[in-house]
Amino acid sequence: MNLILLGPPGAGKGTQAAAIAASRGLVQLSTGDMLRAAVKAGTEVGKQAKAIMERGDLVPDEIVIRIIDERIGQPDCENGFILDGFPRTLPQAAALDKLLADRNKQLDLVIEFKVDDAALVERISGRFACAKCGAGYHDKFKQPKTPGVCDACGSTEFSRRADDNAETVKNRLMAYYKETAPLIGYYFAKGKLKSIDGMAPIDQVTHAIERLLAEVAA
Ligand code: AP5
Ligand code: MG
Repeated sequence: MNLILLGPPGAGKGTQAAAIAASRGLVQLSTGDMLRAAVKAGTEVGKQAKAIMERGDLVPDEIVIRIIDERIGQPDCENGFILDGFPRTLPQAAALDKLLADRNKQLDLVIEFKVDDAALVERISGRFACAKCGAGYHDKFKQPKTPGVCDACGSTEFSRRADDNAETVKNRLMAYYKETAPLIGYYFAKGKLKSIDGMAPIDQVTHAIERLLAEVAA
């Protein structure tokens, strides 16, 4: 099954992509995570993307399209994948259509997360992640089971994202409404779009997604 999770910054795309990838044996493809890894590694792409991401603007289409094109071609994606944060512009969506068609793959479902702006800011300001394995947490909504210890790998080191500050969040939200929200109409017109209430607690959102996936599989 090949899915897209579509929604504003902080909507819960990464949280749900990780949960669904684990339960369904799918690969999570987060362009944000891939770009952050490139920045950390100091690659050419990372050098181009660093300042753009810190401002909360979108990285040029050709860079992210190339990254996804290469990644989707790898063998572990054969069983299916969850795109988390891609596509984010109409040209990216058109490029995805083409690269899927070229590989005889199809898109099964696009899940849109509906979340109020005020909740997004609260979610982003409280977010942190395990510095070793990347597992995501929140100061208020998702603390590790043992405080200070990652549930997934036992590490005691955590980090916060450079773009998770009030000023950058405003810019990221603007980029979402201007560049990404038009994709809702794009996928609705293709009959691929389903929307979920992203304001619900994390477990309930996971159940809502599982119900949608069961409907699609039936
Ligand atoms: P990216 O990393 O994709 O960031 P984003 O879209 O801004 O989304 P986030 O990762 O901030 O939010 P999320 O929806 O994953 O929420 P999460 O699950 O973590 O992109 C970063 C940057 O990279 C972009 O600004 C751009 O520069 C560049 N980029 C990436 N892709 C690109 C592309 N395709 N084209 C161009 N540029 C690109 O949840 C947030 C917090 O809330 C967590 O702490 C979580 O625990 C908590 N939470 C989650 N769900 C709930 C819930 N239901 N209730 C309560 N709390 C919850
Ligand atoms: Mg994310």
